[in-house]
Amino acid sequence: MSSKRLHMTANRMGLILPTVPLPRAEFDSLAFSEEEIEAEAIRLQAAIQQHQRWPLETCRSIAPLTLEINRLKKENDVFLIAHTYQTPDIIYGVADEVADSYTLSKAARDAPQQTILFSSVRFMAETAKIVSPHKTVLHPSPEAGCSLSDGITAQDVLDLRAKYPGVPVACYINTTAAVKAECDVSVTSSNYMRICERLPGDRLIFVPDRFMGAHLQTALAGKKEVIVYDGECEVHAVFTGEKVREWKERIGENLSVLAHPECNVDVLEEADFVGSSEKLIREAIRLGAEGAPDVMLITECGTAERVLAETEDDLNLYGACVMCRHMKATQLEDILQALKEPRPDQIIEIDAEIIARAQRNLDEMFRLAE
Ligand code: 13P
Ligand code: SF4
Repeated sequence: MSSKRLHMTANRMGLILPTVPLPRAEFDSLAFSEEEIEAEAIRLQAAIQQHQRWPLETCRSIAPLTLEINRLKKENDVFLIAHTYQTPDIIYGVADEVADSYTLSKAARDAPQQTILFSSVRFMAETAKIVSPHKTVLHPSPEAGCSLSDGITAQDVLDLRAKYPGVPVACYINTTAAVKAECDVSVTSSNYMRICERLPGDRLIFVPDRFMGAHLQTALAGKKEVIVYDGECEVHAVFTGEKVREWKERIGENLSVLAHPECNVDVLEEADFVGSSEKLIREAIRLGAEGAPDVMLITECGTAERVLAETEDDLNLYGACVMCRHMKATQLEDILQALKEPRPDQIIEIDAEIIARAQRNLDEMFRLAE
């Protein structure tokens, strides 16, 4: 049996893993037998692998919801995509695909199903619609935004283009469809360095993440000038290099620091590994398997929850994660409601002309990333 331990402290940097999302109201479970509910609860608990935070009783209260969602998905041939930062009941209970934003945009593009339900923030669901405009894309929580995508408009990009004529514009995928339509190419946390390096010319405008932009400025110094916008992720902006150094002093040289590139440069300078949510998970699991169990994950809490679920090896996760309130806005009940009877604001609609221009941007991302 695994002896995975979780050393997380509530401090200025963050908090202990988020509260387990119990159903808001009792769900009418009459459609399922007691045996079906029990078997589903056991399946959920085994998949989530956090027996104390997710006791069987909690899994039992969730089981009728996951059973009903999975039944409806099958009946209506729906492909359910969830980002890593969704809660474990969604990830291990009902999702067909879980990954970082790059892999999820490819999964949405390639899914044979005509209906996609995207459990995540709005820009990701919009991206799914751009790459597969003929499909119906359901987004259960229309209010779930993102401090990066909400911090820049299409006009802001037009203003930058007017100020720096002819300079290519790369946008982080955390942007609206309207912003993507004004940019040349999107990048994600798994390919921003590769794509920006491959863009023509010796100048580049990067929007909207100032931290990722600063990372690009450092990495491309001498090769390219990077003009950066001033947006930031409200979650990753919380981490500081000073706190990471404190943990390094406390734990010692065995500590591996894994950070998301939305963090400040002073955090990234302390990191042994920088990567997308999926790459951080794979690296943490690899370290555990190779007998290097002291790991600090500098990112949103969902990453640690997936690491705990997806390894049997000993792993000591140090530090504190930060929760994204936008990502955590979606609960199983919202997914069920959107599957049963989606409201108009839960069906992604984007102007055809914007889709066509944003699609060119994303096609360019796929071309340059591979
Ligand atoms: P990933 O592509 O690494 O999953 O990042 C998406 C995101 O919003 C991180 O905050
Ligand atoms: Fe946006 Fe940050 Fe939340 Fe990711 S974690 S969705 S970048 S606010």
